[in-house]
Amino acid sequence: MKVLITAGPTREALDPVRYLTNRSSGKMGYALAQALVGAGHSVLLISGPTELDVPDGVDFLPVETAAEMYAAVAQSLGRIDIAVFAAAVADYTPVKVASHKIKKSEAPFTLELQRTRDILGSARAELGFSGTLVGFAAETEDLEANARDKLTRKHCDLIIANDVSKPGIGFGSDRNEVLLVYPEYNEALPPASKHTLAHHLTSAILTLHARLEDARLEDSRRKT
Ligand code: CTP
Repeated sequence: MKVLITAGPTREALDPVRYLTNRSSGKMGYALAQALVGAGHSVLLISGPTELDVPDGVDFLPVETAAEMYAAVAQSLGRIDIAVFAAAVADYTPVKVASHKIKKSEAPFTLELQRTRDILGSARAELGFSGTLVGFAAETEDLEANARDKLTRKHCDLIIANDVSKPGIGFGSDRNEVLLVYPEYNEALPPASKHTLAHHLTSAILTLHARLEDARLEDSRRKT
């Protein structure tokens, strides 16, 4: 299979020396890339800045901003069977990027932000992706309801949801505990290292893809 994975945070510049970002380490996306390559698949990893080594055998496309990540995904999606969006993309970016370093003054400083494009949410309708679409949801409350809302709103086949308010898992940590939210049911996976979890997620994603391909095939057979 040809798999696209987005990972890591994005970085939105304010001026030549400052930026807005978030606590994503990229570990989950990189672990998934490694597990999928290990299982014999071709992986394109589109990643914001992280401190991680790129796993051997992975095609790597580094980006910095949400807009750059959108452009890289838009350019690549046509060749992809399975797309997994694990990046923590900035939801807002500064309206203006100062060309010189912003100087302090005594007056309060207000930053005007505008929405970035939702890359996962654009995959189906705007970018015409017809393969298997997997998103992530990091929630601090109502895990299942919020994840299910994202599943429908962003036209995904699976949302991998985790509760980031639980100590010791998720953002920055080596461990994670996730709930797999499919259109028809949920499946809770036990807490595990991101490495172990990546192997479980790989098999869940590949099983889902095979099931959806069978259904697509059956559908086109019925139409002819
Ligand atoms: N995502 C994306 N592009 C964005 C924002 C998010 O591709 N601009 C993807 C993430 O990679 C992840 C999923 O969407 O797969 C997360 O959904 P999102 O709605 O961003 O989650 P939250 O930011 O937690 O949403 P909300 O603020 O609505 O809770």
